[in-house]
Amino acid sequence: MTRVCVVGSGGREHALAGLFAPYAEVVVTPGNPCIAGSVDTSPLDIEADLFVVGPEVPLVEGLADDLRSRGRLVFGPGRQGARLEGSKAWMKEVLVEAGVPTAGHRVFDASELGAALEHVDTMEGTIVVKTDGLAAGKGVLVTDDRAEARADVTAKLSGTSFGAAGRRVVIEEGLSGPEVSLFALVSGTECAAVPTLAQDHKRLLTADRGPNTGGMGAVCPAPGTTPELIETMMDVAVRPTVEVLARRGIEYRGVLFGGFMLTAEGPRLLEYNIRFGDPEAQVVLPRWQGDPVPTFMAVARGEAFDPPELDDRTMVTIVCAAEGYPYSPRRGDLITGLDEVRAMEGVSVFCAGVGSDSAGRPVTSGGRVLSVTAAGPDVSAARSRALAAVSRIHFAGMQYREDIGTTGPSPDAGDRRSSDTGSRGRTGEQT
Ligand code: AMP
Ligand code: GLY
Repeated sequence: MTRVCVVGSGGREHALAGLFAPYAEVVVTPGNPCIAGSVDTSPLDIEADLFVVGPEVPLVEGLADDLRSRGRLVFGPGRQGARLEGSKAWMKEVLVEAGVPTAGHRVFDASELGAALEHVDTMEGTIVVKTDGLAAGKGVLVTDDRAEARADVTAKLSGTSFGAAGRRVVIEEGLSGPEVSLFALVSGTECAAVPTLAQDHKRLLTADRGPNTGGMGAVCPAPGTTPELIETMMDVAVRPTVEVLARRGIEYRGVLFGGFMLTAEGPRLLEYNIRFGDPEAQVVLPRWQGDPVPTFMAVARGEAFDPPELDDRTMVTIVCAAEGYPYSPRRGDLITGLDEVRAMEGVSVFCAGVGSDSAGRPVTSGGRVLSVTAAGPDVSAARSRALAAVSRIHFAGMQYREDIGTTGPSPDAGDRRSSDTGSRGRTGEQT
């Protein structure tokens, strides 16, 4: 039997493990006590026929290259392709070369503070300031307040707010519209969409209030998903990007996650991630039909592949977060109800911040503790089922949103001036 190694420890990796489990022997490293097949061994020391790397940090650090140099088959880009997420300035350079519709931008490094502030002073409307490098989910400020933008640019470029990752910034024009996530499988020069769109809900509280998080829930398909919209996104963004990568000698093998804003002028690419989204994976992957191993293997080999087919269910996932998340999540709270929920039809539990106590019982051990995905014929049925499941799970201080799938992020939802958070963070590893 094929042996698949999933690298990572969160809900996304649990969903990947669940995708492969009926068709392969699955090992997850490091995983967590609630994901079957978890082993705390370096991926470099694991024997497997296919490695699927979940999170961005190991990819940006070159894990895929290290595995490939040992002759392993890997789904996930090498260090060069991973720069699409690891450096926003480089990503923008690629987008410009590829002619991808995106927010206008300028890049400034630490020696250009004066020019950066002058540039901010010329901007009208919403100003977006991003750290170039990975910033653990917090590197983006979206503001209508020029003074706040100036202060943020100063703090980032001086290295006080994000260290080295912030010593180069991308300053962008603000766009507005709902945001959706597209997952494209890219195998060298071949690419095909996982044919759906998902929508993440990044604010902590119901009705898109409260601080930004790594994602409090997701729905798939996202409102407004059509095959035509997906094709447009592939045509205007993903294909030209993959062509530019190939021209630069970069053979990307893995998933390319396009974060798009649906503006009045059409879809605009806000960012690329080089991995599946979390919690989007928990609503997209359960819809995959049939054996995923051949597709992932072909992508990993850089060969032509059959695009996946999805079932037509709607999926809602609700994240259950720890007391204190996203600032200082409390650990060690006993979690009950998992077995009862796992037994419910059309419901899956994906564990992220779950550890075990000395008696082997599940306890909270991270910010986003777990997510509960439920299927239904439409959003409201899926959400009701997910809420019914969540109501059976208990741990002290559990936080979750009741409105996943109803209030998609909209231009005027929440507080765009970000006074409640200090920044509207991007949502990478804020687990
Ligand atoms: P990013 O990591 O680049 O996707 O940015 C994180 C979040 O910041 C996005 O999901 C958006 O909510 C917001 N954002 C990023 N770029 C822009 C932009 N140009 N205009 C408005 N909001 C943005
Ligand atoms: N849910 C957004 C992300 O994974 O970055």
